[in-house]
Amino acid sequence: MVLSLKTKFLTIVGLLFFVLLLVDCSNDKQAADQAKNDSTASCKKPMNPNGDSELALLMRDMMHSSENMKAMIREGKLPDTFPEAFMKIHTAKPTDSDTKKASFDAFADNYLNNLHALYNSPKDKHELTQNYNAVVNACVSCHTEHCPGPLKAINKLRITE
Ligand code: HEC
Repeated sequence: MVLSLKTKFLTIVGLLFFVLLLVDCSNDKQAADQAKNDSTASCKKPMNPNGDSELALLMRDMMHSSENMKAMIREGKLPDTFPEAFMKIHTAKPTDSDTKKASFDAFADNYLNNLHALYNSPKDKHELTQNYNAVVNACVSCHTEHCPGPLKAINKLRITE
């Protein structure tokens, strides 16, 4: 009897979990669809007469900085100062003003948190590499939904140990 109660309880917990999972997935899907609409818009080549957007220029800096960092981390080193300029990711104007709807800010925070973790990481080559790759993954997460164009180049930033 005790056993069957326990079994019932576990079944109910299992079912609840399953339902939660379903709800969660459908939310994700909506967000992904929304972001997909955003992404095709945000990744168009700049059409504004003023040239590249503030965000595109910032991203180019982030790309170069990551390339330099990759070389340093392979030698177990890290740049001395945190790149404060990258905090502007939240406010920098994108090519298309629709870009920053949906999940943009959450992805941006995820990126900045991982970057902070890297700068606070123990200066050990293995730890640095792990934390650096986590930053690259944060670039990839945002780009998968918001701007798939540069993904190939971003994936090359990863260090394989
Ligand atoms: C929060 C989302 C987000 C994160 C995180 C992010 N990007 Fe971007 N990235 C974008 C968006 C959106 C654009 C398109 C900008 C525009 O067109 O105005 C872009 C554009 C770019 C471009 C193209 C710039 C150009 O010349 O037009 C490169 C390269 C790039 N990102 C690299 C990176 C790298 C490397 C990282 C991580 C270090 C990163 N991105 C992190 C959203 C993100």
